[in-house]
Amino acid sequence: MAQPQQSEEAEVPPLRVGMVGYAFMGAAHSQGWRTAGRVFDLPRRPVLAVICGRDADAVRRAADRHGWADTETDWRALVERDDVDLVDICTPGDSHAEIAVAALAAGKHVLCEKPLANTVEEAQVMTRAAEEAFDRGQFAMVGFNYRRVPATALARRMVAEGRLGTLRHVRVSYLQDWLVDPEFPLTWRLRREQAGSGSLGDLGAHIVDLAQYLAGEPLAGVSALTETFVRERPLTGGAVKGLSAVSGTGTGQVTVDDAALFTGRFTSGALASFEATRYATGRKNSLRIELNGEHGSLAFDLERLNELSFHDGTEPAAHAGFRRILVTEPDHPYLDAWWPPGHGLGYEHTFVHQARDLVQAIAERRRPEPSFADGLQVQRVLAAVEESAEKNSVYTPIAV
Ligand SMILES: NC(=O)c1ccc[n+]([C@@H]2O[C@H](COP(=O)([O-])OP(=O)(O)OC[C@H]3O[C@@H](n4cnc5c(N)ncnc54)[C@H](O)[C@@H]3O)[C@@H](O)[C@H]2O)c1
Repeated sequence: MAQPQQSEEAEVPPLRVGMVGYAFMGAAHSQGWRTAGRVFDLPRRPVLAVICGRDADAVRRAADRHGWADTETDWRALVERDDVDLVDICTPGDSHAEIAVAALAAGKHVLCEKPLANTVEEAQVMTRAAEEAFDRGQFAMVGFNYRRVPATALARRMVAEGRLGTLRHVRVSYLQDWLVDPEFPLTWRLRREQAGSGSLGDLGAHIVDLAQYLAGEPLAGVSALTETFVRERPLTGGAVKGLSAVSGTGTGQVTVDDAALFTGRFTSGALASFEATRYATGRKNSLRIELNGEHGSLAFDLERLNELSFHDGTEPAAHAGFRRILVTEPDHPYLDAWWPPGHGLGYEHTFVHQARDLVQAIAERRRPEPSFADGLQVQRVLAAVEESAEKNSVYTPIAV
């Protein structure tokens, strides 16, 4: 029995991945690449070929831990390697544009973490490079992984099926609390030159993408407030791990927003509200979104990510109300390959689904979503939020 299975596997062509960055997202993407081909029947088999970081010992340890075959200490060497088909960018925003453009020029497919870039101008350059590469048969995608939660994918399907009717409201918040302590050190996420912006680009980018994805339409304009509550923080004193870090000596300036609040208008006239902060004491990674339409409403909470709430407004009022859909059925998005109903999924599965969707799009030679153009559009919303906040919240149209 083992023989035919082995030859069947050997017939699936490999997709050799080279990944830059090996910390928080590097670990999450490694899980995605490692697992996708073992759970889903994929037309190409992801191979964890090369991982890149600047410290030779640390990158070797990361390779061993996460299952990568080889290492590089310079991303320029990685993107030029003949044994890499796809470059996966898991570094802070200040290097996204340079790495992505070089990788596309070297003939690679690209997966780039969000936000696509630190500025609209960088995102434009990246999108142009991706469009030119598309004509050569290469594909590029942005890592807005919250689209890949089965419950949010189901919500998208229900909106597209017209279950909500005309959309009136989208209400969305993304709340964390890891900056509440004023002594938390000044990591790269708090420096504009590295991160582009603060809560806005980090958390706001996710909820802008998710809101537009679920609504099925772009925002037309925004009106915003941003604030930096703590303007000076201790410098870091060692390695930064995920969202945690230790302080060293000396202090430095926080050069990004700590929180961003904005309202927006969709092109259809539906209204939206957004809140992104790292100061919501007690909220660890709370992403909530609700959509209200003329026929019904949908609500999702990342802390209960196997569930979707749905109110069908066409039911008789006597027994209508929000009901909980347990999104673990085989005909729900992504779930036919996973566990029996009721055996829920978690955060890391979004990265497995992201890898699956990208591999399928590449094999089928269709444009993966979200594309770099989608990432550019989100970047334009972020820029409009910053412009509005600078001008006392004046309504600011999103540039097309
Ligand atoms: N999709 C999500 O849910 C999600 C969550 C967190 C972060 N992100 C995004 O992922 C990206 C990385 O964030 P993170 O949390 O993994 O950061 P991190 O600080 O945990 O890791 C960054 C990694 O990049 C490496 N790096 C930095 N500059 C480099 C360079 N020039 N060459 C090679 N390696 C370099 C660092 O050594 C480190 O390994 C950011 O764009 C961030 O916004 C996305």
